[in-house]
Amino acid sequence: MSSKFDFAITADVLIPRDPFDKIIGQDEAVRIARMVSRQRRHLLLVGPPGTGKSMIAQAVASVLPSPSQEIFVVHNAQNPERPFIQVVTPGKQAQETTIQREYGKVIHPSEVPAFVAERLFLRCNRCAGLSSASVPLCPHCGASKRPEDEEKIVESGQLNVTSPLSGIPNHVVTGRVNAGGIEERIVYERTVNDMVRILLPEDQRKMQSEIKRELKKLLLPLKRSTFVQASGASETELLGDVRHDPYGIHPNLGSLPYTRVVPGSVHEAHEGVLFIDELATLTHLQKHVLTAMQDKHFPISGRNPTSTGASVRVDNVPCNFILVGSININDLPQLIPPLRSRIRGDGYELLMNTHMPDTPENRKKIAQFCAQEISTDLKIPHASSDAVAELLNEAKAIAKRIDDANGITLRLRNLSGIIKLAGDSAISESSTIIEKSHIEYAIRNSKSVEDQLGEKYGSWWKAGASDHGTSAVKPGPETA
Ligand SMILES: Nc1ncnc2c1ncn2[C@@H]1O[C@H](COP(=O)(O)OP(=O)(O)O)[C@@H](O)[C@H]1O
Ligand SMILES: [Mg+2]
Repeated sequence: MSSKFDFAITADVLIPRDPFDKIIGQDEAVRIARMVSRQRRHLLLVGPPGTGKSMIAQAVASVLPSPSQEIFVVHNAQNPERPFIQVVTPGKQAQETTIQREYGKVIHPSEVPAFVAERLFLRCNRCAGLSSASVPLCPHCGASKRPEDEEKIVESGQLNVTSPLSGIPNHVVTGRVNAGGIEERIVYERTVNDMVRILLPEDQRKMQSEIKRELKKLLLPLKRSTFVQASGASETELLGDVRHDPYGIHPNLGSLPYTRVVPGSVHEAHEGVLFIDELATLTHLQKHVLTAMQDKHFPISGRNPTSTGASVRVDNVPCNFILVGSININDLPQLIPPLRSRIRGDGYELLMNTHMPDTPENRKKIAQFCAQEISTDLKIPHASSDAVAELLNEAKAIAKRIDDANGITLRLRNLSGIIKLAGDSAISESSTIIEKSHIEYAIRNSKSVEDQLGEKYGSWWKAGASDHGTSAVKPGPETA
């Protein structure tokens, strides 16, 4: 059976630039995957090895915008074992936000001097009733809370009222003279829930020095990949860790805990794709991935109980990722149901095709695939159209052999292996082109041990064995 192509050599075959268009035979999966990256959904790809699951995950990541946030871990002077997280959006200086940084002491408005509570709009200067700063008139007596003499006091220098927003001051600075005769400032700051934060001179010094000394570590740089691949092999790799310090937090010897905080893959994938190949290998870690997906942040703590890192925890570390998971059909029961329902609730489960119909367009796709493999390998020459035709025949034979299907196989890693072997054999013969004979040689020599056993001992050693690679021996449901 000979297949005619409209090119002489694969160097003349057009290779698409769009990473999605390089994925052949999986049109439905590609259509959904494009949507996944536009809409930031999750994706579970189900199917045998070598059909393009990793390629799809990479394509999803490649079209995402570059990350916009930079994440720091900041030293917490009051409690070094609870470092803060700081999220910085460069170019938006005003939006530089610090989550949970706390200095000084928060007290009730009744505990601050009356004139301070009045300046902060928390107290009525006529009836002395307390109320929220958001109400302009005192709910107790109806008087306006804005004092007439505000300007005068500001000018006299005794009191400095700052009004950053809409004319309502959110903090008041007062002065006092200390025992040594030196004037000190006390800052009263209204909190969002109408309490008052009081910053004594020592709190202000602490704040200043920490800000000056930049006691913080860059956890996630702005320039980072939007594609992060995680394996279920290591808990610390996936979820982060706080490294051990043999000197603990000894003031002179030890390193401060914030310096030892290490992000996990879930954090590194913030704003990008977290690709977990073979999701089932995660076993008990699945529930942590689920939590991270739901909360979009996940604490980092020391995961080795015998380490000094174990007492350190950083809360609210952002991890807003798109999960792309891959799994073999037979391993589906090993996924915890809430994880699957989370993916389905906010994304898609997709079955990969194992073969495609033998049509003229799909034959061209095999030629495109062949050209792609050769041009990414860099070490092998291009192939003649006769060689591609021979590869196509083998692609049909594989579809028949493994999936008992009439069509062209999409288990393309197998075909990719054949192309590379053929290329090596062409090189060893100093041929500048992969010919049909090189493909024939490669087909003879590229059979897996399972295929060799199958040929020797019969047909029961079919799809099951080849889908599982190393793990299983029995044929799976796909054999049917
Ligand atoms: N649908 C496909 N289209 C083009 N090339 C493919 C496709 N599927 C697999 N390949 C080739 O096989 C290699 C392995 O594919 P991969 O995406 O890792 O498969 P999976 O993740 O499903 O095991 C790819 O790098 C690519 O060279
Ligand atoms: Mg893969």
